[in-house]
Amino acid sequence: MNSESTPGFFSSEVVNLPLLRQRAFNLRWAEVDSDVIPLTAADPDFPVAPPIIEAITAHISDGVLCYGPTRGLVEFREEVSASLEVGGIPAHPDQVLATDGAASALWASCRAMLAAGDEAITFDPVDFLLPHCCEVAGATVVRCPLEPISGAIPEGSLEQLIGARTRAILLCNPHNPTGRVLRREELQRVAALAVKHDLLIISDEVWGGIILGDVPMISIGSLGEDVARRTITVSGFSKTYGLAGLRIGFIHCGSRTLADQVLEASGAPRTTFGASVVSQVAAVAAMRDGQQWRDEFLQHLRRLRKIGASRLDALDGFRCPEPEGTYLLFPEIRSTGMSATELAGQLETKARVAVVPGEERWFGAGARGHIRLSFATSEEILDEALTRIERWSEAR
Ligand SMILES: Cc1ncc(COP(=O)(O)O)c(C=O)c1O
Repeated sequence: MNSESTPGFFSSEVVNLPLLRQRAFNLRWAEVDSDVIPLTAADPDFPVAPPIIEAITAHISDGVLCYGPTRGLVEFREEVSASLEVGGIPAHPDQVLATDGAASALWASCRAMLAAGDEAITFDPVDFLLPHCCEVAGATVVRCPLEPISGAIPEGSLEQLIGARTRAILLCNPHNPTGRVLRREELQRVAALAVKHDLLIISDEVWGGIILGDVPMISIGSLGEDVARRTITVSGFSKTYGLAGLRIGFIHCGSRTLADQVLEASGAPRTTFGASVVSQVAAVAAMRDGQQWRDEFLQHLRRLRKIGASRLDALDGFRCPEPEGTYLLFPEIRSTGMSATELAGQLETKARVAVVPGEERWFGAGARGHIRLSFATSEEILDEALTRIERWSEAR
């Protein structure tokens, strides 16, 4: 497909607001008042890549929709494995399990690996899904605060949190909500501790395709054999390809033993768990033929992150760095004198823009004093939302 045949994947005209108001849930268009712009859950407003639509349509029009293989379609697992290999992870299709989303991949990994009495270390702030999945598995969550300004993993304090009951470290890279892409040196420190204390690493890399700056994405599972075999990498297709509604993701385990444990605990062998075949077909099309769309998506996001961060940073009481990865802005708003909940409430009632407040239930106590905004929308919609926020700020 040449670029002339695909103009404007990310122009304002392609954002179908009437349909989004019917179909975009999870705090978004279908769940807010009709005059509110929801920069809430990270789910792109754009139609998906044409090759994905073609693949789904062709698959369904055959009319044969049987059960798929227990671990997932071979072509799905091969494509996932090949893409992990590109990132330096020694991957194998037999160690991939198709899941209905990255959230479900985290849930199944935690249920397989953690039990009551175990401790799991994750960071603060971090997306609620990581601690939540540890807790539903019965484990106790221990949080390591990230460096306040940079969002980096601090030197030293992580090891102090490791005790006799520690079983796993859960990473989110690129990081939701800070937008940081973890540095090789940070990952090496985590990896060295995991090896030294014989811990498992569960790395949520659902944002791994959304790298906007110069810091390269490094998968912790690529940092050597000792780390790879104790690493479970989870990811999905919601963020990079806008397939949230298809609920499709995967788990890759760094050893056959881990893969068998995760498979058994998942329920997939008894059909109580598994990814829809149609969704796997869509993900295969995304991995094989979605590159042009994805490249243009990244270009669009790079422009919008600058616009979003600079305009928020200019507001009284806001400090907003550009995210290195993700399409999340995470301004610090303490100097406004308001809590994140108060400020988000004012934005919704007065500016008619919905954002996610940095409340403990979403990201941990470390998110206090911040709000989170997703900018995976058109430039026009983002501009309108920012203009409303600027007017609110001036009128305060
Ligand atoms: C860090 C992280 N993990 C997992 C998910 C969920 O992904 P999925 O839609 O594939 O379940 C999200 C969605 O925002 C996320 O930010």
